Amino acid sequence: MNKFDISRRRSLEALAGFLAGSPLLKGQIDPIRDHARVPGIKELLTSFEFEAVMYSKQTRAVYDYRAYGEESEFTLRRNRLAFDWVQLVKKQTTASAAQTATELFGTKMAFPLMVSPTALHGDLDKDAEQATHKGAAAASGTPMILSNNSTLSFDKVMPAAPSPMWIQLYPKQAMDANKTYLEPAIAQGAKAVVVTIDQQSSTYERSLHDRNLNALGGGRGRFGGGGPAPAANPYRMSTGRLWYEWKFFDELRDFVKVPILAKGILTAEDAKLALEHGVDGIYVSNHGGRSLDYGPSTLEVLPEIVDAVAGKVPVVFDSGLRRGSDVLKALALGANAVCLGRVPLWGLGAYGATGVTRVLEIIQAELVQAMLQSGCTSLDSINRKIVLPNFP
Ligand SMILES: Cc1cc2nc3c(=O)[nH]c(=O)nc-3n(C[C@H](O)[C@H](O)[C@H](O)COP(=O)(O)O)c2cc1C
Repeated sequence: MNKFDISRRRSLEALAGFLAGSPLLKGQIDPIRDHARVPGIKELLTSFEFEAVMYSKQTRAVYDYRAYGEESEFTLRRNRLAFDWVQLVKKQTTASAAQTATELFGTKMAFPLMVSPTALHGDLDKDAEQATHKGAAAASGTPMILSNNSTLSFDKVMPAAPSPMWIQLYPKQAMDANKTYLEPAIAQGAKAVVVTIDQQSSTYERSLHDRNLNALGGGRGRFGGGGPAPAANPYRMSTGRLWYEWKFFDELRDFVKVPILAKGILTAEDAKLALEHGVDGIYVSNHGGRSLDYGPSTLEVLPEIVDAVAGKVPVVFDSGLRRGSDVLKALALGANAVCLGRVPLWGLGAYGATGVTRVLEIIQAELVQAMLQSGCTSLDSINRKIVLPNFP
């Protein structure tokens, strides 16, 4: 072979060398996922940093399912922007601690903070919702709402830790199915039932792309575990939820004797209708921007809903909270307590139960800090005077 002949092996070597220096390959390298060192939990200072660690530790599909918002994700972004549009009024206090304990439907809380119901914690940690419940309980007994789509059932999660739990329900048209799901959980100690009425259909575009990738054999996680994706419903329309009616609450009341909350309320009108149908609590939520894109952020509609409810029942709030100061703003605009959806998931996916504890402790500490900076030494002293909303 003379030196100008090129063997198959040499040509492959040459191609490999070309690709190694090629922008094509560089474009596939993910600078966050591939960083060499995962920081220790004590190095993290804000909830946002837990998201980056969770991203680096989980598969793309598992991350995307937690991150996505509906369609163009405008409402997802707006949930965050809304907190930027509310100014806090600075006021001096000499106090170094604040009173933060409260009670909602007999559920005692050291802070007006709970864990929102979110699906499938088993994707993030082998101990699934048991880890979240343990982690939340270790953060001053933070209560948790178990999702209707949890990896583990209520009877497995409840005994894992001492803090209180509520249970969430996606209404089923056959009332018996709701009964079969709720009654054992209530008997095992679920202190309230949260009925989610907002996500009647959804297109998770990021997850749909991942599902297609999984179908090609890559990755693991929610859609297919590396095997073929379920093809029956390519657009993930939740056709099982399109029948929702207000009278569902009247029918549920026949056998649910613990407090019932309606989750997903975004207008004063719907809050009033829910009250007419006997709910014990209004839960203002847009499913973390996962329901109707171009719908409002929850913070913008909170004041009109609080006015419509007029103190008749407690108002719970979620969607977009990432900071203690966000919690303070929601309380100032009239929420009695708030829930966190993605924040504890970031903790769980980054460091398991310990991560849930730490990220909740950060929010709790930030809340106290924000309260004191705004001159509030107790939950009772938080009111609309401490905020200046400037919504567009
Ligand atoms: C990954 C994920 C799964 C969710 N699963 C449920 C669910 O099963 N039931 C439900 O009522 N809400 C569910 N939600 C909505 C949350 O309860 C909550 O309303 C939302 O996450 C709050 O917004 P945040 O994530 O910005 O805090 C889910 C949200 C996320 C991010």
